[in-house]
Amino acid sequence: MPQRHTPQSKTTHADTPNKTLQAKAADDSTVTFTMSVNGQSETLSLDSRTTLLDALREHLHLTGTKKGCDHGQCGACTVHVNGRRVNSCLCFAAACEGDTITTIEGIGEVEALHPLQAAFVECDGYQCGYCTAGQLMSAVALLDEPIGPNDDDVREAMSGNLCRCGAYQNIVSAIQSVRATKPSSK
Ligand code: FES
Ligand code: FES
Repeated sequence: MPQRHTPQSKTTHADTPNKTLQAKAADDSTVTFTMSVNGQSETLSLDSRTTLLDALREHLHLTGTKKGCDHGQCGACTVHVNGRRVNSCLCFAAACEGDTITTIEGIGEVEALHPLQAAFVECDGYQCGYCTAGQLMSAVALLDEPIGPNDDDVREAMSGNLCRCGAYQNIVSAIQSVRATKPSSK
């Protein structure tokens, strides 16, 4: 089964009493909370119903993370929360109080690409690129998950990330090329 974490489990994790206390309610609908985003502490005051995806894109202007379906179906919005991949369209931003968020902007730079970013370029792992940030964030997380060694294992683990351009085989090739360089890959 894919290692993607459901919004239910994320909500349960983030709704601990301590975190609820830490998030200060400014009024009925606005909540002030702090989270680390790509290594930088960010304090936001947002409507409590704001998703993590909208907080990242609309309020922190980190537009590398994409909105596809906004319903947890496509994976375009995948980010890491405390090192685990999640669909940010299904997470409440305020529930991320105290959490560590990593977005596509946090895994590499133009002059210093993450090995998976370089592999996607090498293997033509994209066409229009709309799904690519989500694909990459899932793939980066996958490197540390107990995924089997075969292409089918990668396909299963990446099944939450859709690509309308159909770049799937090249995406698998890119991921496998990086996994082959990791001694711990199983
Ligand atoms: S935008 Fe989040 S899963 Fe599609
Ligand atoms: S590269 Fe176009 S949707 Fe995946």
